[in-house]
Amino acid sequence: LFGRPWIFIRGVPSMNFLPPEGPPEIAFAGRSNVGKSSLINALVAHKGLARTSNTPGRTQELNYFVPDGFSGEADDLPPMALVDMPGYGYAQAPKENVDAWTKLVFDYLRGRATLKRVYVLIDSRHGIKKNDDEVLSLLDKAAISYQIVLTKTDKIKDPAVPKLMAETLEKIKKHPAAFPEVLATSSEKASGLDELRRAIEVAITQ
Ligand code: GTP
Ligand code: MG
Repeated sequence: LFGRPWIFIRGVPSMNFLPPEGPPEIAFAGRSNVGKSSLINALVAHKGLARTSNTPGRTQELNYFVPDGFSGEADDLPPMALVDMPGYGYAQAPKENVDAWTKLVFDYLRGRATLKRVYVLIDSRHGIKKNDDEVLSLLDKAAISYQIVLTKTDKIKDPAVPKLMAETLEKIKKHPAAFPEVLATSSEKASGLDELRRAIEVAITQ
């Protein structure tokens, strides 16, 4: 699936604009600027498919991406959708916009029956912050399966990566909905991507 071209199909500014529930959805959550959009581009090997920026607050809607070649008719649905989300935490945007998209993210995470797995991205340099913990607790409460992905591992020293993976795993052990394996990626260096692709392919069958 990841070998083929992917396309953008829909930007969702509020819950009313969600597509009808259909294929399994895999969502990418995390603080603003953690690298959600970059990771989607790296996974599907398409630079510029999801828009990225140095400025936190780039992604402001739920953006749906699917493999190309499916009509979307009931008998020809794509096998999954990747959902890029706005970030939480600090963003360079008007407060009312940030409040609106934060609500959208939380409503979507709590209330989407076809949401199969959330990848919660954590910046390797910063680790799990308070607002990450709030999202993890929300997912635990809603019983939505999620997995932690460390991002931007090219920004830390190589030997620090396994140590950080182990520490992070230790921290999430108390979380009932957390998948008991932490992944480490760099979109810049294209590392850890195959492991994540495989995990996604398994997640959509569960
Ligand atoms: P919002 O949409 O604003 O929430 O951000 P996002 O989480 O989608 O982050 P985005 O992918 O836009 O990346 C933010 C910045 O981090 C950009 O300048 C990227 O180039 C950079 N970045 C993303 N992934 C990596 C990585 O693996 N390594 C390095 N060095 N930089 C990265
Ligand atoms: Mg983004």
